[in-house]
Amino acid sequence: MKSAKFYVILLAMFVALSCPFRSDAAPSKVLKLGHAVPEENAYHFGALKFKELVESRTNGDIQIDLFPNNQLGTGERDILEGLQLGTIDLYVGSTGPLGGFEKKFLLFDFPFLFRDKKHVYEVLDGDIGKYVMGLLDAKGIHGLAWMENGFRNLTNAKRPVNTPADASGLKVRTMENKVHMAMWRELGVDPTPMAWSEVFTALQQGTIDGQENPIPVIYTSKLYEVQRHLALTRHVFSPAMIAVAKALYDTLTPEQQEIFQTSAQEAAQHEREVCDKMENDYIKSLEENGMQITRPDLSLFQEASLKVYDEFKGELGDDAKLLDQIIASGK
Ligand code: PAF
Repeated sequence: MKSAKFYVILLAMFVALSCPFRSDAAPSKVLKLGHAVPEENAYHFGALKFKELVESRTNGDIQIDLFPNNQLGTGERDILEGLQLGTIDLYVGSTGPLGGFEKKFLLFDFPFLFRDKKHVYEVLDGDIGKYVMGLLDAKGIHGLAWMENGFRNLTNAKRPVNTPADASGLKVRTMENKVHMAMWRELGVDPTPMAWSEVFTALQQGTIDGQENPIPVIYTSKLYEVQRHLALTRHVFSPAMIAVAKALYDTLTPEQQEIFQTSAQEAAQHEREVCDKMENDYIKSLEENGMQITRPDLSLFQEASLKVYDEFKGELGDDAKLLDQIIASGK
């Protein structure tokens, strides 16, 4: 529990630091930033950092109000649609739903694609990451920087999972992402896509057996209250991003756009560090809260999910070669 206190203090420091930059004049823009997870999650630390930097660098001329925990929508797809409609200005969240907006985003959803975080960030911070992020502009969303959600792991209420056979037959909530769903089907799991705001209750009521998410989400959303078993499957890396409504971004002056870009990069760096620390610290906290943790042989899961590559590579068109490049760069 020591680590949880550390994050509460860090959060309090951020809230205190984010106030003194107001000039006397009222801000010319008050923007809404939405995300889907609790304030204790790394996304919120990234959002607070972005708010603090933008407000200070514009002398309070741009104010950013944060709406965590799905206050602005039922889940990430809903918030992203808000950016397209102009009802929400900024997003911090995973890329999970983005394959439904621009199918080339499915590139990052293939199972066991990334070897480790170093591999992830070589790709996301390099040409491939820049290219994929740039594709969103045509969808009314401007990506500012890559953050992270982390490697996803399976939890369930029924049994310990050590092999694909143990997972087979479970009804598991997934994101609304067809590559993720296909992967689970290959493993004999019944994938059930659902908005994040509905998941805790569905787990509590037993309408689904499990879900899959990175450690910081599992801990900060208190899933240990409704899930006994955690298998460290690390089946897919879940990139995250800070993004702004393109129509709003286009109204900013070049100087303000530069402030958004550089502040987002710094906020993303901070968010990655917090997320990484949480991924390490919270495994123990989950155990202390009664979760039984298994460490399956991942090669069994990897083998069982290989077919997904043949099934979905075609959806990437010419960019299927990027998938090969990512795989090659991880070796
Ligand atoms: O599972 C999801 O929908 C996402 O991982 C979450 C929890 C909203 C965080 O990005």
